[in-house]
Amino acid sequence: MTVDTAELMAAILERLQTASTAAYQYPDPRHGPQDVAASQQQRDEETDLWNSLVGTHTGALALDAGCGLGVHTPRLRERYSHVLSVDGDPARLAVARSVWGETASGVFRCVRLDDPVLGEPAFAGRFSFIQCMQVLGHVPIAAQATALRLLAGMLADGAPLVLAVPFTNGLGDEFCKTLLTADGMSDGIPIPVAEFDALARAATSGVLPVHHFSVAGVQRLVRQAGLRMEHMEVYNTVGPTRADVMLLARR
Ligand SMILES: C[S@@+](CC[C@H](N)C(=O)[O-])C[C@H]1O[C@@H](n2cnc3c(N)ncnc32)[C@H](O)[C@@H]1O
Repeated sequence: MTVDTAELMAAILERLQTASTAAYQYPDPRHGPQDVAASQQQRDEETDLWNSLVGTHTGALALDAGCGLGVHTPRLRERYSHVLSVDGDPARLAVARSVWGETASGVFRCVRLDDPVLGEPAFAGRFSFIQCMQVLGHVPIAAQATALRLLAGMLADGAPLVLAVPFTNGLGDEFCKTLLTADGMSDGIPIPVAEFDALARAATSGVLPVHHFSVAGVQRLVRQAGLRMEHMEVYNTVGPTRADVMLLARR
């Protein structure tokens, strides 16, 4: 039986009404049109790599998991007939909604990526495409694994998932914090993993915890979610051990 995508979206939105309303505030106090540490040049590099990974893929229903200010919204709406964009921070969603607009086929909703509601049958295998761009590097370690597992469960069989996270060229994962003010930031201050986890749980304004994944760390996360990695590429290199990594995986 073919399920109409509009009906599917309606069913999903209805279930999302039961999501936890526990407040989350992304630590960047600026809420500007550009996200933390993302210059136009970095955004362009990100877009080029995203295009090369996703190719000509199109489909019915896409999920932008951790959409933030909705920077990726236009290109998703070009390719997918329905786009659901979710984020844990209601203030950022409000900015995204006002910039990109909301329609029956392009919707913004507040939900944390580790909310069990995303594991309900209404979501299972329903999405033709899922992306999670620069989100998991800022959430507590246990929530990273839960979130990616939930995203994998929402993906249709064989459909692509694009994941981007901060990267280190080191042998093991590394953790740091970025201090943010209205005028700018100082980044890359190393911290122990326990401090990273505490900061990610507390989500204190002005202090952004950053988990830089090693190759082994990314592979572990993807494997634990039951995903099959197809391609992985480093981008936005800022030094020998600091960059971002983007990968395409399938269920
Ligand atoms: C660095 S921004 C990236 C935003 C967007 N994906 C982009 O590439 O422009 C990280 C986003 O993840 C959201 N976020 C962090 N933890 C989250 C969680 N547990 N559930 C949902 N969203 C979360 C934040 O509110 C923030 O908007």
